[in-house]
Amino acid sequence: MGRLPGAACTAWALLLLLQWRGPGVLAGGSWAPMHCNVSLDVAPELRWLPVSARFDPAYLRAALAGVIDSVVPKWVHAVIRPIAEKLELYVPEPFAGEIRGLCKAVGVNVGDGLLLNLAYESTAFCTSIIAQDIYGNIYHGRNLDYPFGDILRNITIDVDFLRNGEVQYTGTTFFGYIGLWTGQSPYKFTVSGDERDSGRWWENAIAAFLNRDVPVSWLMRTVLSKADSYQTASMMLAQTPIIAGVYYIIGGTKPNEGMVITRNRRGPVDIWPLDAMDGGWYRVETNYDHWKPPPPSDDRRTPAIKAMNATGQENINLKSLYNVLSMYPIMNKDTVYTTVMSAALPERYMTRVRFQK
Ligand SMILES: *[C@@H]1O[C@H](CO)[C@@H](O)[C@H](O)[C@H]1NC(C)=O
Ligand SMILES: *[C@@H]1O[C@H](CO)[C@@H](O)[C@H](O)[C@H]1NC(C)=O
Ligand SMILES: *[C@@H]1O[C@H](CO)[C@@H](O)[C@H](O)[C@H]1NC(C)=O
Repeated sequence: MGRLPGAACTAWALLLLLQWRGPGVLAGGSWAPMHCNVSLDVAPELRWLPVSARFDPAYLRAALAGVIDSVVPKWVHAVIRPIAEKLELYVPEPFAGEIRGLCKAVGVNVGDGLLLNLAYESTAFCTSIIAQDIYGNIYHGRNLDYPFGDILRNITIDVDFLRNGEVQYTGTTFFGYIGLWTGQSPYKFTVSGDERDSGRWWENAIAAFLNRDVPVSWLMRTVLSKADSYQTASMMLAQTPIIAGVYYIIGGTKPNEGMVITRNRRGPVDIWPLDAMDGGWYRVETNYDHWKPPPPSDDRRTPAIKAMNATGQENINLKSLYNVLSMYPIMNKDTVYTTVMSAALPERYMTRVRFQK
């Protein structure tokens, strides 16, 4: 694993190959992402260097430019760039140090690095499922969908964050993105986030950011690093001010430890726990409030519910959950990766980068 020479050519060749197979053939594939260690005992500026050494800086610069061009409005660029010089005033540690260190390693300015970290927050379409089997084991799965997934598949990484040589928590992210949308605190909890767009995302998020609220994926990382239990984690996810609305999905290790937290910027809007005694052995969250019907133009929820019903509580496990997350349209052409996890079985954490033509 490592360097990514001629990436664009490879992608083009692959595309041609797929087209030659003719219509009607569902082409796709999956692979395990690069696995990395990041030591929390190392200073924030330096801790990502062993990871960046495994990528080609030119490829990373091109990827970064691509993401920023496709999602960041010009006015945001103009607002954020000057802030970058006073990064520590707006960005708490370890995030400020990590962004600074990463930008230096890749050779981009800190403003672009900060923008990139905000850009990923604005366009994540996802499906998260939390489920409990008949023995009370908890399983958690998620698809992460991005409209510009082509750029991201090759920089998707699974990261073990180590303290004193031990895994303190694990997460899946994109190289350069220091927040986590997917993570696991071993033997304590698993967590994923799905975007909740209430319109005017950039206007609201930038205003909140300048007010020193944190991006939603940074809170997830803070919770993974600080919360010592499922209960504490749920509380922090529900109550800490953040820059945008989001759905936080959390799973624990004991029966009924699982819920969907619907958030606005200031606090919880709704808490939707598992309720296995009363038929609620799973919860499906996509990008819409669970108490309202999803828009017909993007209904990934109903197919997911059908697939969970068809699987049945007696057959749910990490493998069958992965299969549910592999069905169209739950998995679709924008799906970048699928992760399945269970906090009680931390070594079974598994991510696959997905590709569907
Ligand atoms: C992705 O990376 C792998 C090796 O890490 C490389 O073989 C492949 O060509 C790359 N694909 C694209 C589309 O960049
Ligand atoms: C990560 O650290 C573990 C020990 O915790 C080690 O076994 C593994 O080889 C390391 N992996 C990489 C990619 O450095
Ligand atoms: C799934 O199963 C539940 C419980 O049996 C049922 O109420 C619901 O209508 C089913 N949903 C779908 C979409 O099949």
